[in-house]
Amino acid sequence: MLADLVLYNAKIYTPEGMIEAGVAVDDGRILKIAKKTNLPQASTRLNIRGQTVLPGLIDPHVHLRDQQLAYKETFFSGTATAAAGGVTLTIDMPNNKPVTMSTKSLKERMKLAETRTVVNIAFHSAFPETLEEMSQIVEQGAVAFKLYLSQKIGGLDIDDDDAVVRAFSRAREMKVPVAVHAEDRETLENVKTEMLQAGRGDLEAYLKVHSPEAELKAIQRTIKLAKKTSTHIHFCHVSSAEGLKAILTEKNRGLAITCEALPHHLLLSSKDLKRWKTVTLTDPPLRTEEDVKALWTAFKQGLIDVLASDHAPHTVEEKESEFIWNVKPGIPGLETMLPLLLTQVNEGRLTLASLIRASSKKPAEIFHIKDRGSLTEGFYADFVVVDMKQKYRIDSSKFHSKAKHSPFDGWMVKGKPTKTFVNGHLVMDDGEIIAKPGTGQIIHGRQYKS
Ligand code: NCD
Ligand code: ZN
Ligand code: ZN
Ligand code: ZN
Repeated sequence: MLADLVLYNAKIYTPEGMIEAGVAVDDGRILKIAKKTNLPQASTRLNIRGQTVLPGLIDPHVHLRDQQLAYKETFFSGTATAAAGGVTLTIDMPNNKPVTMSTKSLKERMKLAETRTVVNIAFHSAFPETLEEMSQIVEQGAVAFKLYLSQKIGGLDIDDDDAVVRAFSRAREMKVPVAVHAEDRETLENVKTEMLQAGRGDLEAYLKVHSPEAELKAIQRTIKLAKKTSTHIHFCHVSSAEGLKAILTEKNRGLAITCEALPHHLLLSSKDLKRWKTVTLTDPPLRTEEDVKALWTAFKQGLIDVLASDHAPHTVEEKESEFIWNVKPGIPGLETMLPLLLTQVNEGRLTLASLIRASSKKPAEIFHIKDRGSLTEGFYADFVVVDMKQKYRIDSSKFHSKAKHSPFDGWMVKGKPTKTFVNGHLVMDDGEIIAKPGTGQIIHGRQYKS
């Protein structure tokens, strides 16, 4: 038979470990992983000269914006920056304009994404106005519900414990996870009022509002409510040692919870915030060196399930203001996540196995993404070729994202994504996006019929 594509002379990261082999792709899927002589003939053959092939990253925390927020990012610019960073599936967050919180808004988003995306996209939805609509949203293809405890986004009254429990148990019936932004709304608002009354609009004041206590309080409340329903809760962007400890304690006791860490919480601390100011401003904010250490320890032990970027693009102007409450929190991270973490692998701080587990295998499991997340025969051909030895300097002015800023600007990294394949198509080659908009697919979560 004639396969569509063969990559040879590669180091391939399979579930059984790294092997020196080649990979054959046909009809968008991995046909065979084998030594060169055992690979089929193919219409395209690529010698990748000893580079490493990794599963494409699945990033479950991405804000692709578009629609009325297209000035910050579009499905095209957001997924182009994903492709450049070796990310083959982005899971889009619902805090859009309009908010993704109904079959109508989800359908509109999917329709637009379909024509613009260069990698695969799946969708989170906020909770709808009525619980009845949850099943239709899942049928429509949402992979999870997203709950912001920091402010009301979507139809659910976040201050009402009973309403939250009802929403959790409906999600549980459909076996759909609930992703949680854990910062307690009341704590944030009370402390912010105090700060405003004291006339404060500085970075320190921001840290006082978005404190580890606000995070811990929301985590504890979520755990308490989740226990009543045993719904799978996925904690987004865990940043503090105390918050992490609360999660790991319950996880140890067998509660169905998973959690996620972000590169900037693993690699930067509040010291960097003070130095680099508002470019580094994000929610939850950068924490102390002790917090960073706790995250690293847990990450290395495999206790943190997922690595995500929380790619949150804003314009340069939106990132700059003397008055901190006018600065938009968020860091564009899709293009830097993999090189930053590969650098850690190269420096011996992290194994490639832990990195792959957290950035492709586990996200696929948690969000029920079928046949993706590892280099396995029969799975979709979503992978990234990396040159583990190539060193380069991060330059945010070259990002494919519309958000051309980064707290990692100027960092020297070692390990570069050189080619990204999505559904067997080469979408990024040597930093250039060569795919047409619309090459990526809309990926649905677990099938559910009411
Ligand atoms: C995110 C955004 O800009 O949408 N900002 C952020 O600071 N992380 C929202 C969020 O993830 O909480
Ligand atoms: Zn074919
Ligand atoms: Zn968040
Ligand atoms: Zn986010």
